[in-house]
Amino acid sequence: MGSTSKAMCLCFLVVAILLAAYSSPTEAQNANVSTLQFYLHDIVSGPNPTAVRVAGPPPSNATSSNPLASIFGSIYVFDDPLTATPELNSTLVGRAQGLYAAAAASLNDEFALQMTVTYAFVSGPYNGSSITVAGRNPVMRDGPRELPVVGGTGAFRLARGYCLAKTYSMHGMDAVIGYNVTIIHY
Ligand SMILES: *[C@@H]1O[C@H](CO)[C@@H](O)[C@H](O)[C@H]1NC(C)=O
Ligand SMILES: *[C@@H]1O[C@H](CO)[C@@H](O)[C@H](O)[C@H]1NC(C)=O
Ligand SMILES: *[C@@H]1O[C@H](CO)[C@@H](O)[C@H](O)[C@H]1NC(C)=O
Ligand SMILES: *[C@@H]1O[C@H](CO)[C@@H](O)[C@H](O)[C@H]1NC(C)=O
Ligand SMILES: *[C@@H]1O[C@H](CO)[C@@H](O)[C@H](O)[C@H]1NC(C)=O
Repeated sequence: MGSTSKAMCLCFLVVAILLAAYSSPTEAQNANVSTLQFYLHDIVSGPNPTAVRVAGPPPSNATSSNPLASIFGSIYVFDDPLTATPELNSTLVGRAQGLYAAAAASLNDEFALQMTVTYAFVSGPYNGSSITVAGRNPVMRDGPRELPVVGGTGAFRLARGYCLAKTYSMHGMDAVIGYNVTIIHY
């Protein structure tokens, strides 16, 4: 092959790559970006908890300044209501159903949960659709925590995105968490 034809091959290759790069955004151009705002209520105490501990080491008597560190290894199953405003009696927009595990091993580590959860919407424009979120959640952090949206169903089929979650109020281990979610879907 002469250097001219080599150069032509290279040229075709470059054109092919450019065409591929320009044709794939068709999908991205058709994408919808949705933003959702809601509040999650995680209730561990009282007669009607929405989160229950299902596995883990026996509770220890560790007298630590960070009581959460003593629950390392605990796994909870939860079915937490999602509401439109921070009040539990406000409009129910969905339910967060999933698992979280206390995943910070030592007192020196920042306390964090590993979460795998589906937020299923039961009212509003996304009634019947859901998003699935999986990731690390350093729940004691003051600023917003970021969790990846890894997929969805219904209106959120093929979704990708992220949640910003911030503790709105906390009583013992019961917490109200504000969520702002940005979702790209088709
Ligand atoms: C957005 O969503 C609507 C309804 O789900 C759909 O018809 C449309 O093709 C999507 N894309 C754009 C760019 O609106
Ligand atoms: C925890 O404390 C209780 C009561 O104070 C005691 O009966 C129990 O043996 C302690 N458990 C451990 C693992 O130290
Ligand atoms: C909702 O609960 C709050 C207290 O948390 C109360 O002040 C308010 O009246 C309740 N609203 C309704 C509609 O029940
Ligand atoms: C949500 O969708 C379900 C199933 O289609 C329906 O039964 C229910 O009435 C809807 N809820 C609201 C608040 O629109
Ligand atoms: C969500 O966005 C609103 C502004 O639209 C902001 O006031 C709130 O702090 C945000 N919450 C989170 C958890 O980022």
